Amino acid sequence: MTETLDVVLETERLVLRRLVPDDLPALHALYRDPVARRFFPDGTRTLEQTREELEWFLQGHPRHPELGLWATVERATGTFLGRCGLLPWTIDGVAEVELAYLIDPRRWGEGLATEAARAIVRHAHAALELDRLICLIDPENVASLRVAEKVGMRFDRHHVDEHGPCAMYARSRLDPGGFAIVPGHPGASS
Ligand SMILES: CC(C)(COP(=O)(O)OP(=O)(O)OC[C@H]1O[C@@H](n2cnc3c(N)ncnc32)[C@H](O)[C@@H]1OP(=O)(O)O)[C@@H](O)C(=O)NCCC(=O)NCCS
Repeated sequence: MTETLDVVLETERLVLRRLVPDDLPALHALYRDPVARRFFPDGTRTLEQTREELEWFLQGHPRHPELGLWATVERATGTFLGRCGLLPWTIDGVAEVELAYLIDPRRWGEGLATEAARAIVRHAHAALELDRLICLIDPENVASLRVAEKVGMRFDRHHVDEHGPCAMYARSRLDPGGFAIVPGHPGASS
């Protein structure tokens, strides 16, 4: 089924593709789950709130259509496992791109978020030629911190926004740690 949809990235176990309206029930099943949404400042989402977010991502960002959240689907079964991607923000007056990930709690600890995040990092640096990526993480979100570290992110600074304090992690295109990627470099393929 995924072959006919708009695939952004593929990994050994995952297909990351553009979200479609039919993803609403699966996305809402995750967004209404207090476990999956524990570290999101706005908490769980209703069906209507999920629909609004999904519609926003279906339209795409007006200035950054290459960014967004993508359905993260199990290649072998076609199961909707979560949504991961790249989000543009302006933070302290600076344009930043956040690496974002959310996986179905029933599948935590299988390395799926790390697998998706690695592919997204490569894509961001090599194909999209983004020099810097960030993660904004609640310091108590140990799993998210681990994923960030495993894809070469390092603590950048403390950040406070309207939702409260969080830790900003960051990595650059030429950072060491197995992810020094430049366009055309063999390591750039995912
Ligand atoms: C963060 C998240 C995406 C990780 O997904 P995942 O597929 O379980 O991650 P992985 O299996 O790749 O594991 C990555 C690391 O996190 C650790 N980890 C996974 N779940 C954990 C948990 N509940 N508590 C502590 N560590 C955990 C793993 O052990 C692994 O670390 P290790 O290699 O040192 O053992 C997932 O917990 C999630 O979707 N959380 C809700 C959404 C969220 O908070 N997103 C981040 C917002 S900043």
